[in-house]
Parts: sequence; C-alpha cells; structure tokens
Amino acid sequence: MKKAIVIGASSGIGRALAKVLAANGYELGLAARRTALLEELQKEIPSKTYIKKIDISETVFARKLLRELIDDMGGADIIVINSGISVTNKDFRTEPELETLTVNVMGFTAMTNVAVNYFLDKGCGHLVGISSIAGLRGSAVAPAYNASKAFVSNYLEGMRQKVNKTKIAVTDIRPGFVETPLIKNHQWAFWKVTPETAAEAIYRAIKLKKKVTYIPLRWLFVAMAMKIMPEFLYNWGYNIIFDEEKGGSNGK
Ligand SMILES: NC(=O)c1ccc[n+]([C@@H]2O[C@H](COP(=O)([O-])OP(=O)(O)OC[C@H]3O[C@@H](n4cnc5c(N)ncnc54)[C@H](OP(=O)(O)O)[C@@H]3O)[C@@H](O)[C@H]2O)c1
Repeated sequence: MKKAIVIGASSGIGRALAKVLAANGYELGLAARRTALLEELQKEIPSKTYIKKIDISETVFARKLLRELIDDMGGADIIVINSGISVTNKDFRTEPELETLTVNVMGFTAMTNVAVNYFLDKGCGHLVGISSIAGLRGSAVAPAYNASKAFVSNYLEGMRQKVNKTKIAVTDIRPGFVETPLIKNHQWAFWKVTPETAAEAIYRAIKLKKKVTYIPLRWLFVAMAMKIMPEFLYNWGYNIIFDEEKGGSNGK
C-alpha cells in the first residue's frame, strides 16, 4: 500500500489533495491544527487514515509530531507540505509579517527537515512543497507572504540539489489563485480554479515527479514574463490590478 502524508489537510487545497490521493489508493496521514475538520475528512475518504494535530509554527514540537506520524503509519512514500497562511497587511503591522514567516518559512523548513532526513535514511521518497506564483515577485499587499513563497521555491530547489544523487524526488507546486478560504477577501483574484482542479493537477505532477509545476499551466507563461519584467512595468501592472478604486485591494 502506498502511503502519503498531507500537512495542512484540514481545508482547501490540502483537503482536496487528500481526497485525490485516497481515490488513487494511498493510505493517508492527515495533519493540521483543526482536528475536527480532519475527522470529518477521515469519514469522507475510503482509505486508511491517521490523524495528527500539528501546529507547524511550534517548530520543535512539530518535528517530533511529524516523526511520530511517520512511525504510526509504518513509513511514508510522499510527504506534502501544504500548510500556509496569507495575511493582507495594509497597515503594515509587524505581527502579521512575523506570523506569516513563522508558519510559511520556519514551519515549512522544520517539516522539510524531518521529511528529507527521513527519506535520506530510507533511501527514497517524494517531497512535495506548495509554493505559489506569489513567490515570483514582491507584493505591497502581503509582502511577507510573497517573500515567504520565494523562500519555499528557493529552498525546494536547494533540497533537490541536496538529494540529486539519491532516489528522492522534490516537487515545487506553484498555484495561481485557488478558491479557498486563503483568498476569500481577494475579490480581484482572477483565473481562479477550484481546489479539486488544483488537487488533480498536483496529483499529476506527483505521478510525473515534476520538479516545478504551475497551476493552471498558463501561469508558466506569466511567470516567464514576470521573471524578466523590469520593475517599472511590473509596478504599472500591479497598480492596475490592486487599485482599490478599480475593485482591487491596494487602497492604502
Ligand atoms: N488559495 C490560493 O489561491 C493559493 C495560491 C497559491 C498557493 N497557495 C498555497 O496553498 C497552500 C494551502 O492553502 P489553501 O489555499 O488551501 O488555504 P486554506 O484553505 O486556508 O488551507 C491552509 C491549510 O494550512 C493549514 N495551516 C495553517 N497554519 C498552520 C499551522 N500553523 N500549522 C499547521 N497547519 C497550518 C490549515 O490547517 P489548520 O488551520 O487546521 O491548522 C489548512 O489546512 C498554502 O501554502 C498557500 O500558500 C494557495
């Protein structure tokens, strides 16, 4: 039986991905803070599941809990680190910035460390990190979120280099906008896909052991343009999308 762990399975993309993995015959480890939601999910999926309450911002304890979950399951073939938060910080307060980094950077790093060390001991495995197109450039709306996702993609590339002589695969998933609670206040979001569509695309990327995947694919072309776009042009486009008078969210 193939085994996968989804960290951040209680909602949105992680929840949908857990269902897709279960439908494809995976035993599942489901982790997040809201265990009531994980228990609801457990009832909806046919395969054997293990639930673990993990708050990835408590990095020391979270590492211990992830190791326990792997042991409880008798091992894991795939570990998906999906947990993440995004706080719109128009007033540029300190707390939302630090909170975002604690979860998306510190928590992500802690979980990656456990996963990669486990796979190195085992000799194989597949690490999947959920980054974002937000990691491509900076953003005034949520500066820490974009910077944190730049970290995630960069870190995953480093991990891939680290394990390149092993049978460990590392996949960096970069979704555009997905209709989940994370973007519930982003009226300006466009090209939105459902969590189910995103989950199917992530599963395809996992099966193909892709290094980097944009969801949907059209973001690949946007990403190529954004990478080389001069700052004045990027800012011009950004201001059109985020101008509050035009329905955006950059009102301050
Ligand atoms: N929605 C989008 O448009 C979009 C686009 C690109 C990338 N992403 C990324 O996709 C991932 C999933 O987001 P989503 O859109 O599905 O949002 P979501 O529905 O809000 O789900 C976020 C998940 O992260 C978990 N989480 C948050 N803080 C956590 C913590 N401290 N410890 C453990 N788990 C934590 C949540 O579980 P608990 O609250 O139960 O702990 C939940 O399961 C995130 O990394 C996000 O950055 C989303």
